[in-house]
Amino acid sequence: MPRYAYVNGQYLRHEVAAVHIEDRGFQFADGVYEVVTVQNGRLVDEDGHIARLGRSLDELQMGWPVSERVLRLIMRQLLRRNRVRDGIVYLQITRGTAPRDFRFPENATPSLVLTTRRMNLDPKARIDQGVAVITIPDIRWKRRDIKSVSLLPQVLGKQQAAAAGAFEAWQVDEEGQVTEGCSSNAWIVTADGKLVTRKPSNLILNGITRQSVLRLAEDDGLTFEERSFSVEEAMGATEAFITSATTYVMPVTRIDGQPVADGRPGALSRKLRDSYVGYAETTGARD
Ligand code: PDD
Repeated sequence: MPRYAYVNGQYLRHEVAAVHIEDRGFQFADGVYEVVTVQNGRLVDEDGHIARLGRSLDELQMGWPVSERVLRLIMRQLLRRNRVRDGIVYLQITRGTAPRDFRFPENATPSLVLTTRRMNLDPKARIDQGVAVITIPDIRWKRRDIKSVSLLPQVLGKQQAAAAGAFEAWQVDEEGQVTEGCSSNAWIVTADGKLVTRKPSNLILNGITRQSVLRLAEDDGLTFEERSFSVEEAMGATEAFITSATTYVMPVTRIDGQPVADGRPGALSRKLRDSYVGYAETTGARD
């Protein structure tokens, strides 16, 4: 079965789909993106992802290439064509194609690219074991709240993590406080059972999964604090986990090679994961 990508108004075979060599995404990383998970045919947290996409576009003074309504239809159409029930849809908007010049082009139309990928959303072995993270200096720009395609620090961080046999790298600011993972938000649980995750600001991406998990935690009667935490505090925490569209809630069982508590996924991480999976199964729009 052929796999399709959506590129500027056309559904093209994935292996030949392409953008122009002077696309500003290619030359300047002048673009934004979203990753939306699809579980059992439902787009998980779709509204949140679309809203954040709009915010990222606004912050960069970029326009929508198509209306929000049409974008939602394209997502569904592509998922249908590619027969994806479980996986992700990737959306990318760039400022368009124009002769290379740092200033915004006057007449460029934003480019829109969508791809999908099938994925096993419930990698049981990984959840039972948890994942390892390493810590690295956060070398990114100061507008991390914008989901920009400029991801070189995260590419380097993830590669460093992989080389160390870890799943993710937690980025650490100059005060020794964890900002977030390279493609996930970072959480810990304190000795008195409180969830801690960094407050949204320009220094982190306000994860859509993060926001839903906070709501679910509140519904479950859990207490939480939105504040930063140090690597040292994380190493002494009773539990740690990460959240993102692709990992949902994933227990972290090692930080820089040291076990978190007894080195096994904690009860609250598991509970929140179950809550999120249940939420993903029942919310979100079907085709
Ligand atoms: N990344 N922080 C960063 C830096 C991220 O790149 C992501 C997501 C998150 C979590 O956001 P959300 O819960 O909305 O997925 C936090 C996506 C999954 C990616 O780049 O593949």
